[in-house]
Amino acid sequence: MKTAQLGALEVSRLGLGAMGMSHGYTGAGSDDAESIRTIHRALDLGVTFLDTAEVYGPYVNEELVGRAIAGRRDEVVLATKFGLVSHTGSQAPDSSPANVRAAVEGSLRRLGVDHIDLYYQHRVDPDVPIEETIGAAAELVQQGKVRHLGLSEAWTDTIRRAHATHPIAALQSEYSLWTRDQDELLPLLRELGIGLVPYSPLGKGFLTGQVRLEDLAEDDFRRTTPRFSAENFRANQVLADEVRVVADEAESTPAQVALAWLLAQGDDIAPIPGTKRVSRLEENAAADAVTLTDGQLRHLDDLAPAAGGHHSDAQMRLIER
Ligand SMILES: NC(=O)c1ccc[n+]([C@@H]2O[C@H](COP(=O)([O-])OP(=O)(O)OC[C@H]3O[C@@H](n4cnc5c(N)ncnc54)[C@H](OP(=O)(O)O)[C@@H]3O)[C@@H](O)[C@H]2O)c1
Repeated sequence: MKTAQLGALEVSRLGLGAMGMSHGYTGAGSDDAESIRTIHRALDLGVTFLDTAEVYGPYVNEELVGRAIAGRRDEVVLATKFGLVSHTGSQAPDSSPANVRAAVEGSLRRLGVDHIDLYYQHRVDPDVPIEETIGAAAELVQQGKVRHLGLSEAWTDTIRRAHATHPIAALQSEYSLWTRDQDELLPLLRELGIGLVPYSPLGKGFLTGQVRLEDLAEDDFRRTTPRFSAENFRANQVLADEVRVVADEAESTPAQVALAWLLAQGDDIAPIPGTKRVSRLEENAAADAVTLTDGQLRHLDDLAPAAGGHHSDAQMRLIER
C-alpha cells in the first residue's frame, strides 16, 4: 500500500471508514464480528488509516474500533472527531474548549488508547472562534493525548485561521466523482501544506452501481439525502453507468475506479471508503494498484453534475461554504 502525506502525518493512501459498521447505513450494528474481521483484514493489507468519530452511534463505533485494534495499536494511524456531542450541557455543535477537553477523555477510553493520531473538529461551531477550539486542541497535542489536528467540512477563512493557531494536518470533507466542491479548496490546502481526506468517496455506495433504493432501511440516512430521492436517483443513474464503462475498460470495478480517480488527484489525498464487509474491503484496497489512463481520467472529469444535494438541508446548515 502506497502512502499519502497529510501535513506532517504519513498515512496509508487508502484508509477505512468505520462509521457504517455502527451508524447511518442499512445493516449498521448487525454484525460486529464481520466488522472486526474487516478491520483486521484492513491492517493485514496495509490499510492502516482508520476513521471513526465520537458521534457515530454515538460512542459505539469508537468502542468497536477499540475492540478491533486491541493488541495492534502500533499498526494503526487512528483518527476520530469531536464537536457533534456536547458534554457541557450545551447543544451540539459544541467546540468550546471545555467540550474539547471532555470529549478527548471519552474517546481515548472507548478506543482503549493513550493517544489519538489525528483529532478532527467534526463541524465548525459558529458560536466558538476557531482559535479557541484549536487552542484547546493544541494543548492536547502538548499533553501527548493527540498527535495531529484536523478539520472537517471547514471552508477557507476557518482553515486559514485554524492553521495560523496550530498546524492542521488534514481537512476531511466529502469529495468524490459526484461531489466536487473540494476542487475549489485544493489550491489553498496545498499552499498551506494540508492534506485532504475525502469522506464518502464511493458516493455513499452509489458510484459502485450496487445501491437499490428498495433495499435501504427506514432509518438509512440516504433516505433523507436529496440525491437518493426516487427522481434524482433515476436521473443520477447515468453517472453510475459511466463509471461502469470506465471500470470495464480498466478491467477493474466501479468502486476501484471511484477510488483510483481520487488517488490520481495527488499524493496529499487519502480517501476513507467505508465498508463492514471483508470482501469489499479487499476490493477497495486493490484500488491502490489501479492506474487510470489520461483518457479515462478525462472521461471521469467530464461527468455531468449530480442531480440533488449531497446532504439534507439540516446537514447542510452545519457545513461551511
Ligand atoms: N467527516 C464527516 O462528516 C463524515 C461524514 C460521512 C462519513 N465520514 C467518514 O467517511 C467514511 C466513508 O464514507 P461513507 O461510509 O459515508 O461512504 P462511502 O465510503 O462512499 O460508501 C459506503 C457505502 O458503500 C458500500 N460499499 C463499500 N465498498 C463497496 C464496494 N466495493 N462495492 C459496493 N458497495 C460498497 C458500503 O456498504 P457495506 O458497508 O455494506 O459494504 C456503504 O453502504 C465513513 O465510514 C466515515 O468514517 C465522515
